[in-house]
Amino acid sequence: MKGIILAGGAGSRLHPITLGISKQLVPVYDKPMIYYPLSVLMLAGIREILLISTPVDLPLFRRLLGDGSRLGISVSYAEQPRPEGLAQALTIGRDFIGDDPVALVLGDNIFYGQGFSAMLNKAADDARAGYATIFGYPVDDPSRYGVVEVDAEGTPLSIVEKPAVPASDLAVVGLYFYPAGAADVAAAVTPSARGELEITSVNETYLRRGQLRVQFFGRGFAWLDTGTIDSLMEASAFIEAIQKRQGLLVAALEEVAYRRGFISAEQLAALAGPMQSTHYGQYLKRLADGKIH
Ligand code: G1P
Repeated sequence: MKGIILAGGAGSRLHPITLGISKQLVPVYDKPMIYYPLSVLMLAGIREILLISTPVDLPLFRRLLGDGSRLGISVSYAEQPRPEGLAQALTIGRDFIGDDPVALVLGDNIFYGQGFSAMLNKAADDARAGYATIFGYPVDDPSRYGVVEVDAEGTPLSIVEKPAVPASDLAVVGLYFYPAGAADVAAAVTPSARGELEITSVNETYLRRGQLRVQFFGRGFAWLDTGTIDSLMEASAFIEAIQKRQGLLVAALEEVAYRRGFISAEQLAALAGPMQSTHYGQYLKRLADGKIH
């Protein structure tokens, strides 16, 4: 199973912050935004990851994450010269994906909640078995998103991008699991009325083929927006509150790598060493010392 993070775009709703830095490198409380979606792929057990961004921003991601080996994963990089739609991530990633199933996550989507790992593992298993998975999340403004309508059994009936009159309140979040062959499906997509190669069109293809499954994030699950300065600050405050209350970090990549068995306790301690001037580094040290469970 491969993983792709799409971290492109101009971030124009966060100007002037994003005039000088990629949106996905802006901090969400105590770590760069990209840590959150990357941790999702790692939680799904995915160790081969392609990061797609703009030509100017790619060197900064490379500086941050390198080849991924210190986290026991492999990170490679590809350019999206112009943002022409989310489905393009799958065609840009064609060679990287090869004949494997793939998970795609948007670089500005933040997820947090109990039971998430089990949901990810199920989606990955389903992708290996030939099914795509999207995730539905109830929101009070569904028109801003892709919207899925389901029957009483949770079987998807329709999926529409930013509908004026939504058929349900279930937004489709920016995390998608696809079986082998996803690049071919994406390559057949034509631009929508807003001129984009929509990921919703890819999902519609799987729906038509009877290969689309929906999982649901329930009450209490957080899918956080980072699109505007207010939502970004709210996301930071949420992460701060939950981390301080429980004393556990959200999306600490070294922790995820250690807990998934990608790196040893010794490797974790070595990563923590140079970061002892921050609570992040001190947390990793305590984890390596067996003081956090
Ligand atoms: C994109 C997708 C949309 C999805 C959303 C999730 O929207 O097109 O279906 O619900 O991401 O973040 P965009 O960010 O391009 O407006």
